[in-house]
Amino acid sequence: MINFRPSDFFRPISVPNVRPLFQGASAQPAQSIDTFQSVRFAGIDKAQAVEQPLISFDKKDKTFKLAGKNMEYFLNVTPDGDLVNLYWGKPVGKVHADLLTENTRPTLESQAREYPGTVRGDNRTPAIKVSTPKGHLTGDFKYVGYRILSGKPELKGLPSTYALNPSQAQTLVVKLRDDATQLELNLNYTVFKDSDVVVRSAKVTNRGNEPVSIDKLASISTDFQPDDYKLLKYTGGWGREMQEQIVDLQPGSLLRVASQTGRTGHEQNPFMALMEKNTTDDTGNAYGFSLVYSGSFVAEAEQNAKRKPRISMGLNPEVFRWKLAPGESFQTPEAIGVFSSEGLNGLTKQLHTTFNNHLLRGPWKDKPRPVLLNTWEGVYFDFDHEKVVNIAKEAKKLGVELLVLDDGWFGTRYPRNDDHAGLGDWVENPAKLPKGLGGLAADVNKEGLMFGIWVEPEMVNPKSELYEKHPDWVIHQPDRERTEMRNQLMLDLGRKEVQDYIINSMSRMLDSGNIQYVKWDMNRVITESGSAGLPPDQQMETQHRYMLGLYRVLDTLTKKYPDVLWEGCASGGGRFDPGILPYFPQNWTSDNTDALSRLDIQSGTARLFPPKTMGAHVSAVPNHQNGRSASLKSRFHVAMSANFGLELDPSKMTESEKEFTREQIAYYKQVRHIVQDGDYHLLRTAANNNHPAWMFTSADGNEALVFAFQKQVEIRMPVPRVKLKGLDEQAMYRVDGIKQPLSGSYLMNVGLSPKFKEDMDSNMFYLKKVSDSKDGQAA
Ligand code: DGJ
Repeated sequence: MINFRPSDFFRPISVPNVRPLFQGASAQPAQSIDTFQSVRFAGIDKAQAVEQPLISFDKKDKTFKLAGKNMEYFLNVTPDGDLVNLYWGKPVGKVHADLLTENTRPTLESQAREYPGTVRGDNRTPAIKVSTPKGHLTGDFKYVGYRILSGKPELKGLPSTYALNPSQAQTLVVKLRDDATQLELNLNYTVFKDSDVVVRSAKVTNRGNEPVSIDKLASISTDFQPDDYKLLKYTGGWGREMQEQIVDLQPGSLLRVASQTGRTGHEQNPFMALMEKNTTDDTGNAYGFSLVYSGSFVAEAEQNAKRKPRISMGLNPEVFRWKLAPGESFQTPEAIGVFSSEGLNGLTKQLHTTFNNHLLRGPWKDKPRPVLLNTWEGVYFDFDHEKVVNIAKEAKKLGVELLVLDDGWFGTRYPRNDDHAGLGDWVENPAKLPKGLGGLAADVNKEGLMFGIWVEPEMVNPKSELYEKHPDWVIHQPDRERTEMRNQLMLDLGRKEVQDYIINSMSRMLDSGNIQYVKWDMNRVITESGSAGLPPDQQMETQHRYMLGLYRVLDTLTKKYPDVLWEGCASGGGRFDPGILPYFPQNWTSDNTDALSRLDIQSGTARLFPPKTMGAHVSAVPNHQNGRSASLKSRFHVAMSANFGLELDPSKMTESEKEFTREQIAYYKQVRHIVQDGDYHLLRTAANNNHPAWMFTSADGNEALVFAFQKQVEIRMPVPRVKLKGLDEQAMYRVDGIKQPLSGSYLMNVGLSPKFKEDMDSNMFYLKKVSDSKDGQAA
């Protein structure tokens, strides 16, 4: 991780003798951009330190080129000082005059703008809206200068991407200014050597003498060439997260994906992808956008009447306004922009590379994830010390490595025996756990298992000691009734004292015994958004301050307890987003554990997120969420496609179920490195498809694991073959159950033939490379 000293990166820039380069539309540059650049940023530009600069500046054309592994992104400063996007796509080396002149036309709507404001004749959604003390809306920013940094600076207080060493990445900071309001804008762009990604964010600084109000500040805004496009996005709900949708983007229309209730949510993900009209799973250009944030957001895809598309993404202005005092800055969360010329599967590869290499962190990032048993669906609130130890004993016999005690272990005056009481009081219930968490952890450890615990620290039940002491610590508006959801209210994490309470109570809990895993749950949304800690003119800051507070808490705890495996959860996948990944390398994908429902949920989730970030459990049948009874085999195959766990009471299993479970867990342990560290390939999405399939190739390329499913039996309908991906065409592979080794080209072009008998059926194939070439050279 690179940490630039604040003085290196965020040094306020004031050079009294240098006039702004461009003064209004017709003014000529007072001096060359380079003189200006070197005066302003002397000694800071570290581009020379990198052998092959990823970012360069063409002085003649005033054009920046940002290069990824197989991608280029060109920005240009027009003679009027506007910053425009010239091209984003496969490498072209250089842009020519035709593109440059297209962007100098007088109306701003004809430009491909990089960070549009509201004041100069552009009808599309703006990136920035600021209200000035004079009552005007503003945001017309002109180029001032740039600097290029090696590596990737961290964003203070926000989750952000990182580069392991300075040569992996470069960051361009373009400075712009709105002279009328004395607002300064830094646009940050980072490109990485290993991927086709542009990470963007914006920072606005008030250099004037009066406060202004930021009404909208996007993390990313990019205009594209006029054409026909489609949009990939996700919708869903509790128990049916990440349902894939592809829709047409129509001229003269605006499509929004948004949340305004304080978390990213089950109903949508902070993601969208713009696909050229003919883009498929494996071919064509696609651009993916993903916000590194876990609260209310908006992503907008607009195509104006002239078919010019704009994508913009950031904090949701419906529930956000920020008062910016003179001298203060506001930094947006980061947005990740990903390019693929190999269709949606290429997009997945780029996203997985970015999340794996530049967002996940900590010792568990690359360690094999333990097979766990979570007690929730097995016993719910009905347990005590002895029962948990017995579950651990049984679980050990099945091959489980980690026992997770879910909800119900805390509360003394208001014991948590159902969901009506106890949240906020993070002290063991002595009636259930007489030896405390420490004693329980020790006894579970004696059975040969690691021990983990469930918490929901952002919440409080009105029936709790915490709420009795601090009724003003919850998010609320004084003149409205406090809406309870699942009988609970949300703590106001924007307040330092609330953050400290959570840090201290979690630290006390973690210090009380050998707790090696924490499931951090979050089971409601914000209503009556308001904070007792803020004055009236800052109430609209409540939600973003909540997120900044949450990130402080998570940053502090995950750094203080780096060896703990942290798993995120929000009633399942209600907060499964890039912003949570730096803290939680694993996330509970959905409360719906039914194998058939999970096909769509997991194939949608894995389009964006590496399977090693997903939790998937085998539970009992009939399924507790939808009553379906899928076969044990198919429940295993679905759960083995991510971080595997059980969520049931082993004492209720039959002997034959136990036997099968033992075998499958032993097998999973042998192949989990392929799932957790390998490359994921979606062979057929589960969305609108009766025969979804996916596979994993191991990091060394020598092994593969294929999963093929059938949702429903279709009478007299042929089952499609499964054509594999990611293999070496020339190499030979042995496939379990097939005598003759098969070549990579055969497996990828002819494919395998799965056999299905019933509704929700599944096949798993293991492949091992036996030689590097068709003539039998040893692998
Ligand atoms: C909701 C979670 O998603 C479940 O897995 C479980 O932990 C319950 N909360 C416990 O209350």
